[in-house]
Amino acid sequence: MTTRRAAIILAAGKSSRMKSSRSKVLHPVGGRPMIEWVTSLARDAGVENIVCVVGEGNADVRAAAEGLGLEIAVQEPQQGTGHAVQCAKAALDGFEGQVVVLYADTPLISGPTLKRVFEAFDTHAMSVLGFETDAPAAYGRLVTNGNELQAIVEAKECSEEQLKIELCNSGVVAASAADLFSACDRVTNDNLKGEYYLTDIVEILRGDGKSATVVHASEAEVLGVNDRRDLAQAEAAFQALMRKNAMVSGVSLKHPETVFFAYDTVLEPDVTIEANVVFGTGVTVKRGATIHAFSHLEGAVVGEGANIGPFARLRPGTVLAENTKVGNFVETKKAVVGKGSKINHLSYVGDAELGENVNVGAGTITCNYDGYNKHKTVIGDGAFIGSNSSLVAPLNIGAGAFLGSGGVVTTNVPDDALALARSRQVNKDGWGSRFRAVQEKLKAKKS
Ligand code: UD1
Ligand code: CA
Repeated sequence: MTTRRAAIILAAGKSSRMKSSRSKVLHPVGGRPMIEWVTSLARDAGVENIVCVVGEGNADVRAAAEGLGLEIAVQEPQQGTGHAVQCAKAALDGFEGQVVVLYADTPLISGPTLKRVFEAFDTHAMSVLGFETDAPAAYGRLVTNGNELQAIVEAKECSEEQLKIELCNSGVVAASAADLFSACDRVTNDNLKGEYYLTDIVEILRGDGKSATVVHASEAEVLGVNDRRDLAQAEAAFQALMRKNAMVSGVSLKHPETVFFAYDTVLEPDVTIEANVVFGTGVTVKRGATIHAFSHLEGAVVGEGANIGPFARLRPGTVLAENTKVGNFVETKKAVVGKGSKINHLSYVGDAELGENVNVGAGTITCNYDGYNKHKTVIGDGAFIGSNSSLVAPLNIGAGAFLGSGGVVTTNVPDDALALARSRQVNKDGWGSRFRAVQEKLKAKKS
């Protein structure tokens, strides 16, 4: 029988240092709110029950947690991490198995690391995720003897000697539900902060004859976010990891430090990304495609061998088939573009479906919005859209059709037709010299 797993996510803090109208744990890292990072970390580790501890003032956190399908436990007032865990006890009533305590403001712990926290149960009753740092500052210190964790001592309570310890508590703690709650029941607030410290459970359980151990993580992974500077640091750590992973999996980043990813960016091998490219959420770039400098992509699929930018903006709903081209100063939105089609210069293509091998000339605009509703433009295979065309949607351009440049196209164009939607040009022979003669005479009269 496999052991059941539960998680308690602590999110009842006031997050005053963020100076934000939004609760801290809803701020994003890599385009994903921190609370979602922790939730998916737990789910990926096979955790079935997740309880999120919120304060009464965190209505936005509560709504987000409910949206993620988490159970809610309210902690009011906040009397410390040990008290927070106790507040989750009722929600886990009857649960038998392993419980891990996670912080909603610590988003970057990796799946393999959490797996090691659970694996520690093979040898110990309790495990704590620790990390080495040369700036231990306010972190709780881990007092160890070999593999055995003897105590966690909060910085405020540390002796001179203990303050020198560089192995610190990340906050992640795991024990069986029975041990965790029985120990939390016995935690007191008899300390300098007058709080119920979750960290006291190590000594309490050891007093019961149970053992505890430390699982090691890197400092970057357990970085907790308290203010905007920490948020920026977490973002930087996340980006560094994504860049490394991209390159290791066969993606060329010309200037890695200038490329920014989202948590769900998918890049296939042999993709090349030039400098200053930003990925919003929901982007997949297929094998062999090139994203040239200064492009911004969000909610888009870029097909095999496609060529994007420089200075392209792909917005949500863009799906580009293989060997397509989207050039400089082109914006696409809800645009499905067939194989080999090109939109090379200065265009807006929105709410559109383009067939294969369509050529969209410079400065073409789909006029998709009438101030009330959005309308669709459909362009058939092999059509040629002359430069500076305005395509007033709803509109169908047939396969193989030609649009003369500069047209304002308002009615459907049949397959293979030529559409001219501009006034005919008139040339007036000798007009220039007649005009100049008149103007010079007028000027002479005035002077
Ligand atoms: C805690 C640990 C410390 C560890 C550090 C890592 C304790 C006593 N100390 O200290 O050993 O090195 O984290 O960052 O556990 N929270 C609640 N309710 C409360 C108090 C806190 O939900 O009553 C939540 C906060 O929202 C936060 C987390 O618990 O997500 C940690 O709380 P915080 O007050 O920041 O703990 P630290 O003092 O940093
Ligand atoms: Ca903290």
